[in-house]
Amino acid sequence: MQIAKLGVIGAGMMGAEIALVFAMAGKSVMLNDTAQERLDEALKKLSAVLDTGISRKFWTEEDKTVTLANIIPTTNLQDFSDRQMVIEAVFEDAEVKGQVFKKIDKILDPNCIVASNTSSISITVLSANVSEARQKNFVGLHFFSPVHRMKLVEVINGMDSSAEALEVATQACKDAGKIPIQVKDVVGFAVNRMLFALWNEALRLVEEGACTPEDIDIGCKLGLGHPVGPFELMDLTSNTLNLQVGNILEDAYGDRFHPRPILKQIVAAGRAGRKVGRGWYKYEK
Ligand SMILES: NC(=O)c1ccc[n+]([C@@H]2O[C@H](COP(=O)([O-])OP(=O)(O)OC[C@H]3O[C@@H](n4cnc5c(N)ncnc54)[C@H](O)[C@@H]3O)[C@@H](O)[C@H]2O)c1
Repeated sequence: MQIAKLGVIGAGMMGAEIALVFAMAGKSVMLNDTAQERLDEALKKLSAVLDTGISRKFWTEEDKTVTLANIIPTTNLQDFSDRQMVIEAVFEDAEVKGQVFKKIDKILDPNCIVASNTSSISITVLSANVSEARQKNFVGLHFFSPVHRMKLVEVINGMDSSAEALEVATQACKDAGKIPIQVKDVVGFAVNRMLFALWNEALRLVEEGACTPEDIDIGCKLGLGHPVGPFELMDLTSNTLNLQVGNILEDAYGDRFHPRPILKQIVAAGRAGRKVGRGWYKYEK
């Protein structure tokens, strides 16, 4: 089965751009959020991404119009009944995600693939929110931010995900220009486990007064060849989310992922990162 009609739930930082990359690949994408204003905001942001964020070499105004026309915003999940694959990208909260899955389970076609873009919650646990018959079609698709630029997708198999569902979801990601890797349903999957180990060490260095965030970012970029430093990346993904994911990793693996006090402090101080204009760095709003 080739996926032509998708649905994305949650039009935030991730969901909006996930919709974009599939729309750019010529797919029809319904984009859902709880309020029309969130959808309007998302489409405005995507239009700007198409203007500035993507190589314009082969890009014309017509391509932009066609891409944006492939995205159908809706606040009504009932509209998702003809979708062949639905990707959930709402808040990183098992309860909120669970409510969404329970709702769409009653609406979607029985063959529809259901994917979660969770950063850290077990796919098997999330799949318990849909009927047993649908659990074979439930997978994890972990995209990376900014989605229009980052090629990787971790494809996660839950305990009951079928080989066919994984294959169809993998191919859909390839159609959208992504390079999928297969990862088992372990908490944090592969990339976030490595990333949080690095971040915790970077945070320790700042706590010890050994280095400033700026110098650590320079060290990682110039010494390790990372395109973005850890503190710049934390601000991009949002420190609030980083702490949520850190707590989930600690629950699963114990002390080795204990979120650092300085991360808790910066979140309590409201410095979520780029989104709010202040994190480890200050940003023009
Ligand atoms: N931020 C990252 O770098 C990153 C990377 C990979 C995966 N993720 C995961 O992607 C998901 C979304 O993260 P984000 O950074 O885009 O968050 P975000 O806060 O920017 O966006 C979440 C969106 O979901 C919407 N939403 C909440 N409840 C909803 C509901 N019941 N129905 C429809 N829409 C609803 C919100 O209104 C908001 O627009 C999370 O699970 C997160 O862990 C995030």
